[in-house]
Amino acid sequence: MQVDAERQSGEGAGLIRAAELIERKRDGQELPGREIAELVLAYARGEVPDYQLAAFCMAVCFQGLSTAETFALTDAMVRSGETIDLATMLGRRVVDKHSTGGVGDKTTLAVGPIVASCGVPFGKISGRGLAHTGGTIDKLEAIPGFTVELSREQFLSQLREIGLGVIGTTANLVPADRKLYALRNVTGTIDSVALIAASIMSKKLATGASAIVLDIKVGNGAFMKSIETARALAEAMVALGRRAGREVTCLLTEMDQPLGRAVGYALEVREALATLRGEGPEDFTELVVELSARLLAMSDLGVDQAEARRLAGQAISSGSAGRTYERWIRAQGGDPDESKLLRASLIREVRSPRSGHIRRLDARAVGLAALHLGAGRRRKDDPIDHAVGIVCLRKRGDVIAEGEPLAEIHASDAGSADEAVNAVAAACEIGDEPPHQCGVLLETLGGS
Ligand code: URA
Repeated sequence: MQVDAERQSGEGAGLIRAAELIERKRDGQELPGREIAELVLAYARGEVPDYQLAAFCMAVCFQGLSTAETFALTDAMVRSGETIDLATMLGRRVVDKHSTGGVGDKTTLAVGPIVASCGVPFGKISGRGLAHTGGTIDKLEAIPGFTVELSREQFLSQLREIGLGVIGTTANLVPADRKLYALRNVTGTIDSVALIAASIMSKKLATGASAIVLDIKVGNGAFMKSIETARALAEAMVALGRRAGREVTCLLTEMDQPLGRAVGYALEVREALATLRGEGPEDFTELVVELSARLLAMSDLGVDQAEARRLAGQAISSGSAGRTYERWIRAQGGDPDESKLLRASLIREVRSPRSGHIRRLDARAVGLAALHLGAGRRRKDDPIDHAVGIVCLRKRGDVIAEGEPLAEIHASDAGSADEAVNAVAAACEIGDEPPHQCGVLLETLGGS
């Protein structure tokens, strides 16, 4: 398909113009799956320009996609490149997890080593940062030397030897998501159930994981602001997985405040490492153990939830998860030595303006403050600063005295540090009464 130039598409599906599809979707029409597939495959081949796909995605954000359209989009994204059937090639049930994106969400960095150290292969395609949320691939690239681009053979042999591999989408592996993901990030077109479901599930289906746990973030720092939209996303992804014969469980988890304390790439790697040593923040550790236990219980180990939870805890306390982390990072060319992670040149404290209970720590505002420090992209190819970020020293429910430090700002210059100090102070609400507290896990859907 060519912008305005009609020609027979590679799919043999006839003559369609991208602009017409955009108009029809804008007007709320349901499009035949074949036409959606043509558009996406042509985009992946570089035959449709970014601006038309951006307009199409915006129309989808407003009008949504039907179940059939979402299936067609996901299938086309998987077919845009090669696939790796890990389960067949390893002769094992391979497990995978994916988060819909949150602030301070570094769970893969801890869950992967825990699950692999329990003897279950964990192979995964991750994404980069989206909007105010940080991506696993960007976090891994904060580790000196680490590469997220492995050949199919390297990925497979690493999974055989270490049981753990995390890669990014490539020109061969789900290239349609690679391009769309970067485009959506800078065109205000992330927040769509259909686009998120297709983006995540195309990556999961392309690598053939047998059991998938999806961590659907809910709250003001997430793309799903309400429990209802989070449920709708869970249902869409469970349906996509079921259709492809995969077992999918969705955990709906809280994202009104940052997960853990660290927000920013190198800072989050350090926090994941602390968690693997058993020294992580409570909420983050709770989620890491929950996700790991779910994955182990869905694996071919034949253990129930209680035993899976015990195994996950033991992997941390025995140090075996930490050792697996080191082997994994080395295998992908990185240096696992924590002291080699970048440090920001400037650290400023945010001090509490009053005494009281922390009632709210606005996740989106903290995520945006980190982004403005240099931890995110405004344009597709913007470089990011792996050293900068925020450490939330106090979180919702904590008691604080006037003048005590609320957070640390890690910055590269005084101007951005001052801006972040003000933004984080404004993100924190302190009152006389303790807030209503809830755990990190809100609901579970799908699976057993
Ligand atoms: N994670 C993804 O992989 N894709 C999205 O669209 C959102 C979060």
